[in-house]
Amino acid sequence: MRLDKYVAHATFISRSVVQRAIRSGRVTVAGEVVRDPAEGVALTDAITLDGEAIAVTGKRYLMLHKPKGYVCANHDDRHPVVFELLPAILRSGGMHTVGRLDCDTHGLLLLTDDGDWSHRITSPRHHCAKRYRVRLADPLTPAAWQPLLDGILLHGEKRPTQPALILQTDDYTLEITIQEGKYHQVRRMFAAIGHHVVDLARLASGELVLDPELAVGEYRHLRPTEIALFMPP
Ligand code: URA
Repeated sequence: MRLDKYVAHATFISRSVVQRAIRSGRVTVAGEVVRDPAEGVALTDAITLDGEAIAVTGKRYLMLHKPKGYVCANHDDRHPVVFELLPAILRSGGMHTVGRLDCDTHGLLLLTDDGDWSHRITSPRHHCAKRYRVRLADPLTPAAWQPLLDGILLHGEKRPTQPALILQTDDYTLEITIQEGKYHQVRRMFAAIGHHVVDLARLASGELVLDPELAVGEYRHLRPTEIALFMPP
């Protein structure tokens, strides 16, 4: 396969941009810089772009900066769905959201067509922490959030939540890290201590942080190192 075609397939970057990257020396094959986009490569060759290993896996992994007002579903009668923010080619073939964010929640949303990968992020067995920024209607004192650190029994649940981590930034704002992904979990945790969440944003899933360069509503393909965060060792 031609080198430019291989890199474009692996990274989903357009062929013309890839050709410029190759000509400017940003691509290596087997450790050597190759500047000819037409150079022939094999699927087994070790290829890097900007020092990062790339490979054609056939699977797709995206990060979306989810706006408020979009639903994590394939269809919805009342609201637009997050898939409308992707080009048609990325909506097909088993592409799904990795867990769900509420319609009113914004921030980091991962999408993929790799079911094993998404399972490693969403399954409670894998303890993948999710970090959220929470803005409350009323000021909060550290004493009030102590039950969230210990774990709290939410209405209708059999077991208390796992202990959360909390970092308060001002009277109304804090970051909370939780291990699970129960329905409306963060809003319900604060409701359980008598607080109403007025804004909720997901900042990170595990070590994968929302890219600050992504404007609200934009997506990008994950880098190989980001995909590898949730691959088995
Ligand atoms: N917790 C919530 O309450 N809502 C979300 O969207 C995510 C976590």
